[in-house]
Amino acid sequence: MRIAILGAGRVGRALGAGWAARGHDVVFGVRDPSDPRYAGLGSVEVPGSAARDADLLVLALPWSAVREVLAEVETDGKIVMDATNPLGSPDPEGRSGAERVAELAPGAHVVKAFNTVGFETMADTAYPGGTPLMPVAGDDAGAKETVLGLASSLGFEAVDAGPLEAARDLERLAALWIRLARGALGRDIAFALLRR
Ligand SMILES: NC(=O)c1ccc[n+]([C@@H]2O[C@H](COP(=O)([O-])OP(=O)(O)OC[C@H]3O[C@@H](n4cnc5c(N)ncnc54)[C@H](OP(=O)(O)O)[C@@H]3O)[C@@H](O)[C@H]2O)c1
Repeated sequence: MRIAILGAGRVGRALGAGWAARGHDVVFGVRDPSDPRYAGLGSVEVPGSAARDADLLVLALPWSAVREVLAEVETDGKIVMDATNPLGSPDPEGRSGAERVAELAPGAHVVKAFNTVGFETMADTAYPGGTPLMPVAGDDAGAKETVLGLASSLGFEAVDAGPLEAARDLERLAALWIRLARGALGRDIAFALLRR
């Protein structure tokens, strides 16, 4: 699969390295591809050209950059996986960031995922106590299946969390993760699911 990762920061790099190692064709979309910070990262282009031939676009951007970057890319028919957390930018109508992304990305199949774990866990899912959970929300069954598969391939227990509206819960869960990680527990923590 050709995956365009928009944003080459902590999240973008962790996911890009993981999927490239599993045989996917990963290209990064950044503002200035000639910046030496991106040397050695593989294919690095501006967002519009990175997205052009990609099947899946990953939003690995600060929330404040999402609108601007989406305006530069063609989203029609593509899967847009939103890993952002709209910290400090609550929607007056209570919508999730992912639902707002769906409005900004015409024709896209928007899926919320990867916002409830730290980038360290995206890079290495091994925990002695179990398998980290990856709840995935979206309205398009095929797009959600694709993202569930990508999460599983990195070692997550990927779970269908429901329609895109459920991203509201995923974003609240992320807020809890951030609260815990900033406290005594630190960032090497992840939620997991127990069954019986
Ligand atoms: N960090 C985590 O553990 C974590 C976990 C889950 C979800 N998230 C969410 O994932 C998103 C990314 O987090 P991060 O930690 O990866 O952030 P980060 O390390 O700061 O990286 C953000 C990336 O976005 C790029 N960017 C910023 N403005 C841009 C623009 N206008 N056009 C194109 N690229 C732009 C930055 O490029 P420049 O360097 O050029 O500014 C940088 O490569 C955030 O929404 C965050 O809430 C983070």
